[in-house]
Amino acid sequence: MTLILAFEDYYAQAEKLANCLSLPIKQVNIHQFPDGETKVTLPETLPEKIIICRSLNNPNEKLIELVITATAARNQGVTHITLIAPYLCYMRQDIAFNKGEAVSQKIIGQMLSDYFDCVITVDPHLHRIKSLAEAIPNTQAITLHASQAISAFLQKKFNQPIILGPDEESEQWAKAIAAPHHWQYNIATKQRFSDTEVDVSFTNNKGVASKQLDLAAQDIVIVDDIASTGKTLVQAVIELKKQKPKSISVIVTHAFFVDSAIVELTNLGVNNIWSSDSIPHPTNAFSIIDTIAQQVKANTD
Ligand code: R5P
Repeated sequence: MTLILAFEDYYAQAEKLANCLSLPIKQVNIHQFPDGETKVTLPETLPEKIIICRSLNNPNEKLIELVITATAARNQGVTHITLIAPYLCYMRQDIAFNKGEAVSQKIIGQMLSDYFDCVITVDPHLHRIKSLAEAIPNTQAITLHASQAISAFLQKKFNQPIILGPDEESEQWAKAIAAPHHWQYNIATKQRFSDTEVDVSFTNNKGVASKQLDLAAQDIVIVDDIASTGKTLVQAVIELKKQKPKSISVIVTHAFFVDSAIVELTNLGVNNIWSSDSIPHPTNAFSIIDTIAQQVKANTD
């Protein structure tokens, strides 16, 4: 029988997955030596097939630990390893923007394909490539989406929310979230000047909105795949407040909300800040583990 291997930082979610799949779960223990090196201890015996469930936020240490774990597991006779990483790191740098810049997406993707037979993730940040297989070649690379879980979650909270994406890229999510309930949606245009400076606009340069939605007195939900600095959401909220909606909520798949992002959004009067459990965070409000479990079941049927 397949065994789920979990790490302390994502144990609750891995346990939920194990329960959904009726699979056993064991923990990999990590000991940090005073010099910064790590001792990784696996269960004494492992079956032929294992699933490692660990999200890859804070990736630098975790990647080393995964490489050690996967190699040690193979040394114990494991023949098939699936990595479930609800948040997949290093997907953003997909080209060298300046001479000398490493294309980390390809490098990390190749590394993952060297160690894992299958990689499953949720809404990876793919910009200029169409499929995850292009980033993680020669292995089974599966992309899942949080849209269905978000849509179902929002249906319980609102009657007829208006779904707004803060940039062109977010149209895929806004559309998929709105479609099942025939909600209205729209997207903004975004210009990024630096890591923390963005401009978000729901009107074109003539001040005309791409869709004429009346947002006054409506429940508005801004959706995005990831909130990193949160500046994209902050700018979107500032723009949307001008139209005097009844409420503004934000919902993302992957929640980082670094530094003062939550405080800034709260100070702007945002009514709700929600995220999935792809990354453990105080804003976690719904789970993508069921979506992952369905995929694992389909894979093994
Ligand atoms: C961009 O393409 C993404 O979909 C997000 O909008 C972006 O990564 C959010 O970053 P931040 O929270 O730093 O504005």
